[in-house]
Amino acid sequence: MSDTPATEVQAPPPELLHATELAFLEHHDAGPRPPGWRLTPRAVVTFVCGSGGEILKLPKGARPPDGLPKQLAIREKFVGDRGIVERSVVTLAGERGLLLVGEPGTAKSMLSELLAAAVSGTSALTVQGTAGTTEDQLRYGWNYALLLAKGPVPEALVPSPVLAAMRAGKVARVEEVTRCLPEVQDALVSILSDRRMAVPELGEVMAAHKGFNVIATANLRDRGVSEMSAALKRRFNFETVPPIADVAQEIALVKRQAEAAMAKVGEPLRVDDAVLGALVVAFRDLRSGKSVEGWSVEKPSTVMSTAECVAVAGSMGMHVSYFGDKADALGLLPGFLLGVVLKDDPKDRGRLLAYWDGAVKRRAEEKAAVWAKLAALRAVLEET
Ligand SMILES: Nc1ncnc2c1ncn2[C@@H]1O[C@H](COP(=O)(O)OP(=O)(O)O)[C@@H](O)[C@H]1O
Ligand SMILES: [Mg+2]
Repeated sequence: MSDTPATEVQAPPPELLHATELAFLEHHDAGPRPPGWRLTPRAVVTFVCGSGGEILKLPKGARPPDGLPKQLAIREKFVGDRGIVERSVVTLAGERGLLLVGEPGTAKSMLSELLAAAVSGTSALTVQGTAGTTEDQLRYGWNYALLLAKGPVPEALVPSPVLAAMRAGKVARVEEVTRCLPEVQDALVSILSDRRMAVPELGEVMAAHKGFNVIATANLRDRGVSEMSAALKRRFNFETVPPIADVAQEIALVKRQAEAAMAKVGEPLRVDDAVLGALVVAFRDLRSGKSVEGWSVEKPSTVMSTAECVAVAGSMGMHVSYFGDKADALGLLPGFLLGVVLKDDPKDRGRLLAYWDGAVKRRAEEKAAVWAKLAALRAVLEET
């Protein structure tokens, strides 16, 4: 990966994407840092939440490497409560793991990547939890050719990302930890409490180096966090990541990310702010079961996440750029919304139609131009 220019990679990891910001922050804040950390706790929070438009300047006497800017504004990445990020950073500096829980699409994975990149310079030491995850994937395996040829020698050991993180004093990430079987999850108990991993085949106990910790994520929609063993729960500090509270912030994020997605294909985003605004408001109404005006809305069974909203905004942008003109964007909205809503339960189409006959219609009657046009597109939602 290191020899591939970032621009050719579809989804570069944050340590690559934000390499300049990370290097800058390293020199900007020379204060004390927890052992093994790349940045100070304060600089980690600034990296994740941004500098709020402030242009940070390198202190006098700093000797940055060639090519590093002398001043830089740090972009906002995670949108939301700074307190969540501060508490997460404090947890990582301590002796307990960090568990980010929440609905799907609330940026738990993104936050865990950003934190790992800022704290240890890499977000790559990751295990993706699934029903098929084995203990080996959290501990270690063997290169069988070497094992047969030479027996259990250190070079035949294939460390899991968790063991690699322990040895290097870095942050390991375990995605969707509650999807793993409970007995597999429990492999983490001894790792987090003893900070050691025994390898009986080598007669060795590998100790975690300073800087090691674990960030796990868990979706509330999955088989429950409640089913995690009490022993494992005690090894984690829980941090709940809620959907973005502020509508203006959510619209700004969706716009920014849709623009970024379009920039990757070398096109501007040809979707009006009014259309993006209506899209975000529709997502929020259906997510929360309540319109911004306080009218009640029947919630579909699907998760109407910000991540999903960003994807729709990007798709609308692509569609307009490749197939249509600007006027088309609003016309695309009901179809895309139906595509998100109608996934699991056929009754969700009815729920979306009810939203149209309720909130959308009422807004149209109150002469909101975008909503009046949307109301007129109701037929798109009907079964053909
Ligand atoms: N609070 C937020 N801040 C920034 N991006 C967010 C936020 N909530 C959702 N997103 C969007 O969701 C995407 C990340 O979703 P992801 O991290 O995969 O969610 P999760 O792991 O919670 O399911 C981001 O790339 C961004 O587009
Ligand atoms: Mg995730």
